Order: sequence, then C-alpha cells, then structure tokens
Amino acid sequence: MVNLPWAPEYPVATERLDLRPHRLGDLDDLLRFHGDPEVVRYIPWPVRTREQTVTALEARTRQGSVFEPGQWLVLAMVERETGRVIGEILLKYDDETDARAELGYAMARDREGHGFATEAARAMLELAFDRFGLNRVIARLDTRNDASARLLERLGMRREAHHLRASWFKGEWTDDFVYAITADEWRTGHIPEALSKRELH
Ligand SMILES: CC(C)(COP(=O)(O)OP(=O)(O)OC[C@H]1O[C@@H](n2cnc3c(N)ncnc32)[C@H](O)[C@@H]1OP(=O)(O)O)[C@@H](O)C(=O)NCCC(=O)NCCS
Repeated sequence: MVNLPWAPEYPVATERLDLRPHRLGDLDDLLRFHGDPEVVRYIPWPVRTREQTVTALEARTRQGSVFEPGQWLVLAMVERETGRVIGEILLKYDDETDARAELGYAMARDREGHGFATEAARAMLELAFDRFGLNRVIARLDTRNDASARLLERLGMRREAHHLRASWFKGEWTDDFVYAITADEWRTGHIPEALSKRELH
C-alpha cells in the first residue's frame, strides 16, 4: 500500500544538499537552467523566458506534497555550501494499484559533473521505497541523453526497454529508453543476473 500523502519533513538533507519545496525567491536560480537550451534539450519543457519561469515556479511552490496519482513531487536541490538552487528532482506518482512512480531531474550546467544529481536521486529513491512504500520506480529518457543514462545506471537502475519512434518530440520522432528499479532491488542492491546481462537494442 502506498503511504499518502507524500509530505516528508523538509529539508531532506543529503551529504551536500538540502532538498525542499520551491520558493518564489528561487526564480533567478531556476531561470539559469529552465532558460538554458542545452538543459531542456531532452526534456519536455520549452526554453523558458523569465516570465514563463515565474509561472513554472509558482506551480512548483505547490508541489512539495502529493495526495493522489498523477501528481508530481518536485523538490529544489539546494547546494548547502552556497545556498543556491542548482537543480530539481521530481517523482511522479503514476499508479496506486501498481505502487509505481517516475523519476525526473534537471540541473544547471555549471554544477554538472559533481554527483549532485545522483545524490538527490538516491535520496528520492530512498523516500520512494522506504517512506512512500512504492514497488517500482521508472525513468524515461531520450536514447541520446547519455548523461541521464549514466546517472540511472549509477543508481542501480536497469535498462528495461528501448522504444523506437516512441515520441514526437520537439519536431522529430525520437527513441526512448525506459529504466526501472524495484523495491526488492533497492533493498538488496541486487539486480537479477538475467536482467543485468540482457542487452536491449
Ligand atoms: C541528467 C543530468 C542531471 C546529469 O547530471 P550529472 O552532473 O552528469 O550527474 P551527477 O550530478 O550525478 O554527476 C555525475 C558525474 O559527476 C562525476 N562525479 C564527480 N564527483 C562525483 C561524486 N562525488 N559522486 C558521483 N559522481 C561524481 C561522475 O563521474 C559523473 O560524470 P560522468 O557522467 O561524466 O561519468 C544533467 O545532465 C542534466 O540536468 N541534464 C539536462 C536535463 C535532463 O536531460 N534530465 C533528464 C531527463 S530524462
């Protein structure tokens, strides 16, 4: 059974980050990645203007808790050392019966390459499985999004599917990977050999 609502005590602290709901004062930090064409290249957001980022931010200030399927938990990744919002980590409550959710993330380019997104995503998986009682977490990504695939593999997620021409995305047909991790895999740190060895092309 999924434990609702998803409303952890904030901030959720990791080694170098505080994860917390967004605040209106996060605007300048958010614009740094919401307005960056490279960051949104493989995610279904436009390159946002300041005005569009205000709208996105206002919605995010209400996404610090989840009450029903279809809703996203969206948390700011605050770099503790600087107090700057360097990215965001997301978890969509997909389905109650199947206790399933979808993971997402985005971060400012100048903070990539330090393991911050992995740190935030690990904390989100910990909440997903240990606190919210989920059974399975997936991630979908454009097959060209190598940085995202590497991150998911660092988390111990398995590539489960390769969907061809799966999405009409920013003016072209694109292929998607689906990665997944189950509650059992999360707890034991063990991916069944048959699955980890299988090549999906
Ligand atoms: C996907 C995305 C979050 C990955 O960011 P990232 O910085 O590569 O991921 P991490 O923060 O986990 O950092 C890992 C990198 O830092 C390095 N690193 C340095 N210190 C580290 C540490 N202490 N712990 C882990 N990794 C560390 C790793 O080697 C790795 O580099 P590599 O991938 O070149 O091997 C980022 O590229 C992004 O925001 N992309 C745009 C949005 C997007 O596409 N979202 C996904 C949609 S599916």
